[in-house]
Amino acid sequence: MRLLIFLLLPLVAIAQGDDYCFSKDTSRLQTRQFSSKTAYQIVKGTDIERQYLVPGCQPQKIWIFHRHGTRLPKASMINKAPRVGELRDIIVNNYQVAKTKPETDELCQTDLIAIKFWKWNSSITPDMEEYLTAQGYEDLRGTAKLYQRFYPSVLPPTFNDTYYQFRHTDTQRTTESFKAFAEGLFGSLNTAHPVEIPKEDLLLRPYDFCPSFKNVNYKGEGSEYQKFHQSKLYNDTLAAISTRLGFLYTLSEDDIKLMYDMCRYEQAWNVDRNSVWCGAFLPEQITVFEYLEDLKYYYGSGYGFPENANLNCRLVQDMLTHLSNPVSPHVVAHFAHSTGLLTLLTALGIQKDDIKLRADNYDSLTSRRWKTSLIDPFASNFVAVKYDCPGSLDPEKVIFFLNQQAVQLDWCNVGLCKWSDVLEKYKAISEADCGEYFCRTGGAPSLRSGMSGLLAILAFVAYLMH
Ligand SMILES: *[C@@H]1O[C@H](CO)[C@@H](O)[C@H](O)[C@H]1NC(C)=O
Ligand SMILES: *[C@@H]1O[C@H](CO)[C@@H](O)[C@H](O)[C@H]1NC(C)=O
Ligand SMILES: *[C@@H]1O[C@H](CO)[C@@H](O)[C@H](O)[C@H]1NC(C)=O
Repeated sequence: MRLLIFLLLPLVAIAQGDDYCFSKDTSRLQTRQFSSKTAYQIVKGTDIERQYLVPGCQPQKIWIFHRHGTRLPKASMINKAPRVGELRDIIVNNYQVAKTKPETDELCQTDLIAIKFWKWNSSITPDMEEYLTAQGYEDLRGTAKLYQRFYPSVLPPTFNDTYYQFRHTDTQRTTESFKAFAEGLFGSLNTAHPVEIPKEDLLLRPYDFCPSFKNVNYKGEGSEYQKFHQSKLYNDTLAAISTRLGFLYTLSEDDIKLMYDMCRYEQAWNVDRNSVWCGAFLPEQITVFEYLEDLKYYYGSGYGFPENANLNCRLVQDMLTHLSNPVSPHVVAHFAHSTGLLTLLTALGIQKDDIKLRADNYDSLTSRRWKTSLIDPFASNFVAVKYDCPGSLDPEKVIFFLNQQAVQLDWCNVGLCKWSDVLEKYKAISEADCGEYFCRTGGAPSLRSGMSGLLAILAFVAYLMH
């Protein structure tokens, strides 16, 4: 009898299904892999408590570049919500009526039922496109409170516009993000206000004024993005997802992308709940999508093209100038966007891999530094804290934090950098004329002509031939 039970056990296990089940997965590691749509609360650093205190040093000044918090999708996606409802119904029909569920990797019962009862939140309408969500507001209120807890002397709870300088771009999501941050620092009844937004915001949106940056081929014909997108691995992934959902053919990529985006967004809107649509995918399929996203940003805003590192010339100068100068403002905080953050990190040489990301090295770069999910989630923030260390040979020091985690640069000492080294490392940018430097073709507002334009073209040709 005992032997019989022993023999039957594996069969019982099969009957119950060993297939992946999102709603029963307690670690849900794939929610840390949603690229720029990853929830901040899921990936934020956890070591700042051990990193902020530097013996013998006093924090003096803080400079912050903060991406807006979790937002709603673009109108184009909100308009596709009915299609997600159709997909829901077809998938349930595949499983319960047509009986076309696969032999392996089928949806577990709980994930299927969750999809069956999914409904779009109909109060989200296209006119609210890219608005900050309630969670997005909490994201920034939270980071403000957190940094204030660690640096109470630098972030006092009373606002004045000599000491504090806030700036945001001209969008609802960054305006609200600024307000959330101010509420975190000063409470809900505060008088905090930002500086005026210039018509051409070359500091926070240089990419809008540089045609050559916009025209860089980061995902078109011949790009690494496109090669990966057309690879067998990618095709097989789309096919496997379709089979898993009970389709006898491969769904259009648009449909799969829609479910994937719904999964990422809903997970970020409600961090404590499971997003129903994440159950549609196996973790390894999310890993493939993550790499495609990483390639897109690596070439679009990262180390893929050397000129991406020049774009944020003004922003780097802004940081160096403010932190070098002992006078107020003591706190400078900018509220902006993903492209700004990624190109800033690229200018500073942060999260740079020794090997370039390509379509064909997906397998060997699993522990790459360039993981946009960890670098650039919603509400991602780069924070430079300047310290004064009176007893030290180099009294001026700085720690760079990325998403509450000290940045490890090989020329710094476990995250603590000498200010003189910072100035040396970023000398090319600090001494540059940003009007010339930030954009290969000069860009707006002053389009250069004649000799320097010709030189720029020649330099570009030389770069291409190199
Ligand atoms: C639906 O969306 C609105 C607008 O973003 C939000 O205020 C509300 O909390 C959402 N409802 C649910 C149940 O998530
Ligand atoms: C502004 O705030 C800082 C920090 O709280 C304080 O030291 C300074 O005296 C204030 N300045 C004015 C003009 O109120
Ligand atoms: C993948 O699918 C695309 C589009 O259907 C096709 O162009 C491409 O050749 C396929 N790649 C491979 C390696 O089969």
